[in-house]
Amino acid sequence: MKGVVLAGGLGKRLEPLTRITNKHLLPIYDRPMIYYPLQTLVEAGISEILIVTGGANAGDFLRLLGNGSEFGLKHLDYTYQRGEGGIAEALRLAEHFAAGQPLVVILGDNIVERSIKPFVERFAAAGRGAKILLKEVEDPWRFGVAELRDGRIVGIEEKPARPKSSYIVTGIYLYDAKVFDIIRTLQPSGRGELEITDVNSVYLQRGEMTYDILDGWWTDAGLPETLYRATTLVREGILGQPIPSIRDSQSAIHDPR
Ligand code: G1P
Repeated sequence: MKGVVLAGGLGKRLEPLTRITNKHLLPIYDRPMIYYPLQTLVEAGISEILIVTGGANAGDFLRLLGNGSEFGLKHLDYTYQRGEGGIAEALRLAEHFAAGQPLVVILGDNIVERSIKPFVERFAAAGRGAKILLKEVEDPWRFGVAELRDGRIVGIEEKPARPKSSYIVTGIYLYDAKVFDIIRTLQPSGRGELEITDVNSVYLQRGEMTYDILDGWWTDAGLPETLYRATTLVREGILGQPIPSIRDSQSAIHDPR
């Protein structure tokens, strides 16, 4: 299995933070956002990884990550997405890199608490089709939403006004190499993008889609509120304690002891 981190896009929902840099270079607690999805892949046992990025700051990823030695990697691959054509369009750029192998794809702003290794191993054992990872959330309308019946997914809708469940499709996808043929058949959506939900719907219609439910917390970090949430969750996880209030930290600073 090879891995792909999608770290392009304009990050418009984080303006003005993203006016002069790429969203995935913004800090989440003590490190740049892209460190987390990269670490998630490495921890899952993936050692061949492609970073898809774009925009004016693409070179900064190379300066930041180099050949991935900080993550125990021997090498990192990079490719460049022109403009903003959606997640599926960004993934299309990974075809040459994949070279017929199955892929774990992770959106660069998806942060998870726990390992995805069991899911990756289960998918690798199956050897074909696709797998998505679901999570129950309170605001499903912001995401791709899975419609579940008798424990099976029967449909996926992108940002529905009336979600059919509270289980959303997280930005971690496992695909066999047929994904690139599927992407070639897609038409841009109403927002002018090639939607990953359309890719997933094709696998679903073919009866080749499985799913698992993520353990632990999961969040995206593409809005001011979720960027903040990600920082809080990561910090709590690292220190194993809630964040002290500003007053507490000020008194700590001024405490002469
Ligand atoms: C994208 C996908 C959506 C998915 C989400 C996970 O949304 O289109 O299906 O649930 O990532 O983070 P976007 O970030 O483009 O709004």
